[in-house]
Amino acid sequence: MTATKGLEGIVAATSSISSIVDGVLTYRGYDIDDLAANACFEEVAYLLWFGKLPNKAELDQLNKSFSEYAPIPDELIAQIKLYPRDLNTMAALRSAVSALGLYDAQAEDDSQEANENKAVKLQAQLPTIVAAISRIREGKEPIAPKQGVSIAENFLYMLTGEEPSETAVKALDQALVLHADHELNASTFAARVTVATLSDIYSGVTSAIGALKGPLHGGANEAVMKMLNEIGSKENLEAYIQQKLDNREKIMGFGHRVYKNGDPRAKHLQKMSRELGEQNENTELYEMSVRIEELITGQKGLRPNVDFYSASVYTQLGIQRDLFTPIFAISRVSGWTAHILEQLADNRIIRPRAEYTGPTTQKYISIENR
Ligand code: ACO
Repeated sequence: MTATKGLEGIVAATSSISSIVDGVLTYRGYDIDDLAANACFEEVAYLLWFGKLPNKAELDQLNKSFSEYAPIPDELIAQIKLYPRDLNTMAALRSAVSALGLYDAQAEDDSQEANENKAVKLQAQLPTIVAAISRIREGKEPIAPKQGVSIAENFLYMLTGEEPSETAVKALDQALVLHADHELNASTFAARVTVATLSDIYSGVTSAIGALKGPLHGGANEAVMKMLNEIGSKENLEAYIQQKLDNREKIMGFGHRVYKNGDPRAKHLQKMSRELGEQNENTELYEMSVRIEELITGQKGLRPNVDFYSASVYTQLGIQRDLFTPIFAISRVSGWTAHILEQLADNRIIRPRAEYTGPTTQKYISIENR
């Protein structure tokens, strides 16, 4: 038995949800470029869960369910008010989603119908939770979700209480489409491992949020913005990046386990970043990002991943840095729950082996003699 570090190249499951073949990402066979250009996030969530694009009646019904389920229990809001103000937003989201399961009478119902319903509920409620966390830690009251608007619009509205611009809603909606699923990424794998023990869907999503939080995965978008803030302006950029490269430090937002010739999602976010800069008549953040890409790709051959340009996109939408990874979760919960449903439809516990590298043939020594 020999281990492969990081399970690189190991095919650990079959899945018909999304695929990456020769650098092309598809959801249920639809190219991400096609979906990013044409689909709204709600259609994509339906596609991931049910394997086909919804017709008008199906989409209307799903949107009705999202509106119905979007409010979160008062007990959960009361709990969030007890969290420390200087919280880590992903830790808060992880705690809140775990607690959310306590208030769902269906939580332990493991029928397929109940699990599909819980997937819709989680998708509806995560944006409300993230917005509530954001407002409560600022000492403000949470804002109740609106009925009959898209997930992207509702989320931006619940953050500020103001009507978001059409541009902002469109940009966020497209970002949600791009982040919705990604084959057997670390957080999705964590979700599948958890529910494969026949634990519940809330436990699966809580595991996934914990895995997404790390800077090698979803947390990288916040780390990218931290870097851009540290650089501050174009004049400091080259020296800053060179020092990081000389110190052999990782540059967040670059590299990928699967994509070696570029992440197909990055170009859409790059375009969005440029367009938002042009609209705001301030393209500095975009230009800095492009220059960093030139340096990193030039010197290390590494290409930007989904997290790199999403940092400048969200900042230009006026979103605070520590909400970037929770926004990733708002989108990816569609993929996590689709994978949970797929895992449970043909389940076997996920239990690999470890290659033992510790000492052997040890003999117990009594405590007085150690
Ligand atoms: N900056 C500098 N060097 C890098 C980077 C980077 N961002 N990424 C990889 N490398 C280097 C590694 O140091 C390694 O060099 P070495 O062979 O000289 O040791 C080589 O490239 C191969 O990289 P690995 O770390 O083996 O790649 P792995 O597949 O294990 O990790 C990962 C992939 C985690 C994405 C890595 O590229 C990384 O840490 N990137 C920065 C964090 C990041 O952006 N994460 C988000 C990924 S996308 C997502 O999860 C949503």
